[in-house]
Amino acid sequence: MSNQPAPNGPLRSAGPKVSVPDIAAMKSRGERITMVTVYDAPGARLADAAGVDVALVGDSAAMTVLGYDSTLPVSMDEMLMLTRAVTRGATRPLIVADMPFGSFQPSDDAAVQNAVRFLKEGGADAVKIEGAGPMLRRAEAIVDASVPLVGHIGLTPQSVKLLGGYKAQGRTAVKARRLVDAARALERAGCFAIVLEAIPPAVAAFITKTLRIPTIGIGAGAACDGQVLVWHDLLGITHGASPRFVKRYAEVGPVIQAALEAYVADVRAGRFPEDRHTYAMPDHELDSFEAELMAPSADEDD
Ligand code: KIV
Repeated sequence: MSNQPAPNGPLRSAGPKVSVPDIAAMKSRGERITMVTVYDAPGARLADAAGVDVALVGDSAAMTVLGYDSTLPVSMDEMLMLTRAVTRGATRPLIVADMPFGSFQPSDDAAVQNAVRFLKEGGADAVKIEGAGPMLRRAEAIVDASVPLVGHIGLTPQSVKLLGGYKAQGRTAVKARRLVDAARALERAGCFAIVLEAIPPAVAAFITKTLRIPTIGIGAGAACDGQVLVWHDLLGITHGASPRFVKRYAEVGPVIQAALEAYVADVRAGRFPEDRHTYAMPDHELDSFEAELMAPSADEDD
């Protein structure tokens, strides 16, 4: 772990590198775990300096950054590029890369190969996959390959077509019980943490109390061992209505918009750039330059 200044800015990492065992230890000590999605190097530097424990390179990038209308189209190559950017920017947070739709579902081999790519090529510390049930075998295969794994149950956006939309899960006794069983099975499969998304707080609280591994909630109430929010939601960069579980800690979108509008107006009005934004030339060089311009050019000699 380094406390060196970040390469492109004054921000400093807020402590030693977080490891997978550190995350387990935080649960034992009753310390809440902070996770946020991050998709680029400047964001990673800011999250690092803010003391975020886990940077999740979420496949939500498909929608927040890449402009797709769901998380389904994002590719391995796109996720790897974002992961590399985050690993260049952050030194302290544990970096978890989200395995995109289609990268682990087809077979155990595909799951292992793609999980390994995130560590070898992306520089991630761990990966995350969505689902349980048939995905438990994939989870075991990934963990057997020595890749630290985070599970994700409840609202799993990669299953949006099966779920019939982005809807809260586990709201009947039978479905809540299934979530408890899924969480236990993912723990047995070797996950070191589980994301619980959009499930009733009582169900999340029971899962959190029952499991030895930490739960990270998003729309799952305050009893989880940690919380995760999506960068653009947290900072107020998204358009339209946010899900009810989002707390916006800033309204950065309008700030960016106003800055861009001011820039456009300044350029159009000739107010930017000013002298202080330009590079001076010594007077004698300027005189020589003007003399040069008076002399016949090489082209004219020809
Ligand atoms: O992709 C993502 O951002 C996620 C979080 C919502 C947990 O999976």
